Amino acid sequence: MIIESKIKEIRARSREQKSRGIKTALVPTMGSLHEGHASLIRAARKSAGFVIVSIFVNPTQFGQDEDFERYPRDFERDKAVCLDSGADAIFFPDVAEMYPDGPSVSIEVAGRMTEIMCGGRRPGHFRGVATIVGKLFIAVEPDIAVFGQKDAQQAAVIKKMTKCLGFPVEIIVSPIVRESDGLAMSSRNSYLSPAERASAPLIKQSLDRAAELFEKGERSPQHLKQAVANSLGGSPAIRTDYVELVDNASFEPVDGPLDRPACLAVAAYIGKTRLIDNILLGE
Ligand code: PAJ
Repeated sequence: MIIESKIKEIRARSREQKSRGIKTALVPTMGSLHEGHASLIRAARKSAGFVIVSIFVNPTQFGQDEDFERYPRDFERDKAVCLDSGADAIFFPDVAEMYPDGPSVSIEVAGRMTEIMCGGRRPGHFRGVATIVGKLFIAVEPDIAVFGQKDAQQAAVIKKMTKCLGFPVEIIVSPIVRESDGLAMSSRNSYLSPAERASAPLIKQSLDRAAELFEKGERSPQHLKQAVANSLGGSPAIRTDYVELVDNASFEPVDGPLDRPACLAVAAYIGKTRLIDNILLGE
């Protein structure tokens, strides 16, 4: 396993592969790797000859009161997951390497896509994400980059950033990996107490309830969103942050009857932990 912490070195590795006609795929992560991340690494492995996993807890995407300091970090464990899933290299920079002058230059995707849902609830979050992913693309020069459907809005923002800045990078979005009870895997699940963990599967169950209504012909965005909110409201342990239905291509909220592929997305607090999940309707 190649491990690099300097931009110059990881770029040299990627260019070396390119000179031999081998495609490089990048899987950006913040570490604390689980089976969801492993599935992205395996997807990258299928489409490229050289797979780089970046591990960097990016300070600019965390709000002041968020969990940057206590975000779980375990490099040795992460390295084992990377090895098991077929990665060739890990890019593991420190904050000074990625932000030599602090957060003085950033990439901002304008428009509703970054204002709604997590964009509205976490001001500056997607600026931090677009900035670090753009910087990783410049550092690594990948041909392909793999992201998870788990963070559907993030994937939409990154696709837009890639297109608008003209990065020659193919974006692959890989399906959500779940625990056996349906809870979407997340590094933040480790924050849940046993009692909180027990109520967490209701998030996916609530999305499934709306999917059943959709299968039966319900096309009203209001009714579909209400079904999710009502179901979540059944648990005193869960506080709904938002329920939104967006066009899966533009990520604009769907107002009229649902007539195109859409993403039904939820953010909810269980105790102090904020979890997100989504399902696709009409794909
Ligand atoms: P992180 O939360 O570590 O996630 C890294 C990648 O793994 C993201 O593309 C995310 O969507 C994907 N992922 C997480 N849980 C998943 C699951 N259960 N199933 C499938 N994919 C899953 O997302 C970030 O880091 C950061 O914002 C980053 C893009 C690295 C920029 O800092």
